[in-house]
Amino acid sequence: MSDKKILVSGVKPTGRPHIGNYFGAMKQFVDLQNEYDARIFVANLHALTSLQNKEELEKNSREVILDYLGIGLDSEKTTLYLQSDVPHVAELAWIFGCLTTMPYLMRAHAFKDSEAKNKEINAGVFNYPLLMAADILIHDADVVPVGKDQKQHVEITRDTALKFNNAFGETFKLPKELIIENMQTVLGTDGQKMSKSYNNVISLFATDEEIEKAVMSIITDSESGVPTNVYAVHSLLRDKKSLDALYEDKKGKYKELKEELIKDLKAFIGPMRERRKEWENKPEEVERIIKEGGMKMRKIVHEKMVEVRKKVGLIHHE
Ligand code: ADP
Ligand code: TRP
Repeated sequence: MSDKKILVSGVKPTGRPHIGNYFGAMKQFVDLQNEYDARIFVANLHALTSLQNKEELEKNSREVILDYLGIGLDSEKTTLYLQSDVPHVAELAWIFGCLTTMPYLMRAHAFKDSEAKNKEINAGVFNYPLLMAADILIHDADVVPVGKDQKQHVEITRDTALKFNNAFGETFKLPKELIIENMQTVLGTDGQKMSKSYNNVISLFATDEEIEKAVMSIITDSESGVPTNVYAVHSLLRDKKSLDALYEDKKGKYKELKEELIKDLKAFIGPMRERRKEWENKPEEVERIIKEGGMKMRKIVHEKMVEVRKKVGLIHHE
């Protein structure tokens, strides 16, 4: 067993990732994989709350694994797996549901947002935070790298651990969220938050043509000759000093500044896109990685679940 601290996180397979997803959350997975015992999964059970289409869910789930490999996760260092290959989390989420009140879950942002949009909310959406708590707590995770908007879910996870520990004795470790400091929300080509739902994204694995098209469509509101939306995206790729020098030098020349951004985006995206493509051509190996990742995780969480069952009073047979 390694004595490294445990890191757990996941991404929902609901569509193509964009640079906002990367800089807001996924980049940390790569940056931290040497330091931690990292376990990164595809949250396909969570995706079922909004995606009920067999082909699409299967396809998206494989795509996320390719995305992980494309950004540079190394399956020797990071265990990659499908959430559904560790069904114990659904059992644990049920137990958590029995310790959690409805008014408490009604305070979750995601639930309130869905309610405000007046959607027909399914019970999966309502219970979403508890499944996420189970994903994390079952590993005795130390840290959970996520985007800003997931902070409340990790707080709920800690509350849930405390509730269980109070009811049945010390069992779960309290995990900490890791959020990239000073990370502003990445803005899309229209100046709003970059989001799959707004049609304003720069895809993380965009082709050169897609990069050109997206950058040329950035709306150039400007403050004294600096196109703010172009600058905002550019600031993800270059340090402030060299960026300010460039924007000073080319003040008011929006087209040239966009061309500079295109060049930098191509240099950043190109190698990841190529690495992803290499993995795309090795489907058997990718399948092996997912399968072995799932087996390894099942073995680890099994022991934790035996402990939980015994503590709760669910008779356990080996
Ligand atoms: P989307 O809004 O595109 O549907 P998701 O809700 O799937 O994105 O978010 C997945 C992760 O990416 C979350 O952890 C979230 O914090 C992060 N993220 C999404 N959009 C942005 C953004 N524009 N800027 C920074 N982080 C983001
Ligand atoms: N809710 C997360 C998101 O929407 C995905 C997720 C599910 C997750 N389970 C998790 C993230 C456990 C971290 C840890 O982005």
